[in-house]
Amino acid sequence: MSEPEHISIIDSPKHVGETVRIGAWLTDKRSSGKISFLQLRDGTAFFQGVVVKNAVTEEVWNLAKEMHQEASFWVTGEIHEDKRSHFGYEIEISNIEMVGESEGYPITPKEHGIDFLLDHRHLWLRSRKPFAIMHIRNEMIRATYEFFNKEGFIKMDPPEITNSAPEGTTELFHIDYFDTDAYLSQSGQLYMEAGAMAYGKVFSFGPTFRAEKSKTRRHLTEFWQMEPEMAFMHQEESLQIQERYIAYMVQCVLDKCAYDLKLLDRDPEILKRYTKTPFPRITYDKAIEMLQSAGYDTKWGADFGSPEETYISDQFEQPVFVMNYPKAVKSFYMKSHPTRDDVYICADLLAPEGYGEIIGGSEREDNYDVLKQSILDHHLSLDDYGWYLDLRKYGSVPHSGFGMGLERAITWICHLDHVREAIPFPRMINRLRP
Ligand code: 4AD
Ligand code: MG
Repeated sequence: MSEPEHISIIDSPKHVGETVRIGAWLTDKRSSGKISFLQLRDGTAFFQGVVVKNAVTEEVWNLAKEMHQEASFWVTGEIHEDKRSHFGYEIEISNIEMVGESEGYPITPKEHGIDFLLDHRHLWLRSRKPFAIMHIRNEMIRATYEFFNKEGFIKMDPPEITNSAPEGTTELFHIDYFDTDAYLSQSGQLYMEAGAMAYGKVFSFGPTFRAEKSKTRRHLTEFWQMEPEMAFMHQEESLQIQERYIAYMVQCVLDKCAYDLKLLDRDPEILKRYTKTPFPRITYDKAIEMLQSAGYDTKWGADFGSPEETYISDQFEQPVFVMNYPKAVKSFYMKSHPTRDDVYICADLLAPEGYGEIIGGSEREDNYDVLKQSILDHHLSLDDYGWYLDLRKYGSVPHSGFGMGLERAITWICHLDHVREAIPFPRMINRLRP
């Protein structure tokens, strides 16, 4: 007889009735006299292993009874359908070979507080909820590359160590850079603009950093940002790319992550609403009106905090673009509105279900003199931004771009309470470990 094939749990449906071998960890177990149920995981899925006392050697029966949570081992057995479980399949175990024991695993099936879980993030990643979130995160990253490649974008990587502060100087992480000052990048945008002038349509996807002192459900100090930048493109066309991109990504999650959505109890019917474009659009002026008539005392000119964004995004069944914010609350590089000199041509995309901003974007100022004045008005140094001004000196063209915070989008798509669960090892004001 040939050796049983080594498979992953996720591939069980292709092996019903076959005897296979799986490398697994124990997540939980339960025994009733003559039968043991082992909850197994191998990183690709979770399923149940059944050990029947009469069908195995005494040694295997004892192993099954005595092994501890998170012990690792090889199991051999036959795959069966199991209609009652999330996964739909199980393995009837004929043999177990121990690989690594595990004693006193700290995360037990009982409820733990969030701080305890975050302190044990290196182990917590193994549990069902983080498993589902990380699989969905992976699919969103894959879908992003696929979408932008299909649309003819080139991936270009901006530096992480910079001397510029596109989104303002208050949230920078300072580093000593030999005998000068430098910062961890808060956005790759300015470099992506150089990329757009070189290659037409570019996107970046990597970590960005903000020294956020706020403890909100939406802020990390290290988060992944996806930043496309397009030459010869006005804001309108950029908004269409944004809505098509979000709809595409949600559709990919629906197509590829049904099991993960089930683990998270996330209703796919709700997500289906987000695969339809166009998304609704309102102006900042209209948003202020909506807030004021709902009793908020937000004045025209103020930036929106989480409560305001939550309220606005709650009023729509789909993500909503809020367009043309006052200049005072946005960044120096944005292009002025053609008929209103108090607002920029820009938009934030607010996710529904109260999740708030997931994308910020704008058309960029492409006129040399106007941009130079804006740099001076914002007390930025022409020494530092000279290279950026150059882009307006040599063949300047209308161009637009945007940035999506990956963890914000995950938090929404997975319907999580807090952005900290959307990244493997969250960095926040009081969390640097593990
Ligand atoms: O709105 P922001 O600050 O825009 C920019 O950085 C532009 N330069 C982007 C561009 O046009 N290329 O940030 C973009 C997105 C936000 O919409 C939000 O989703 C996310 O990045 N973000 C954060 N996510 C987690 N934690 C934080 N502290 C975040 N700050 C921004
Ligand atoms: Mg923003």
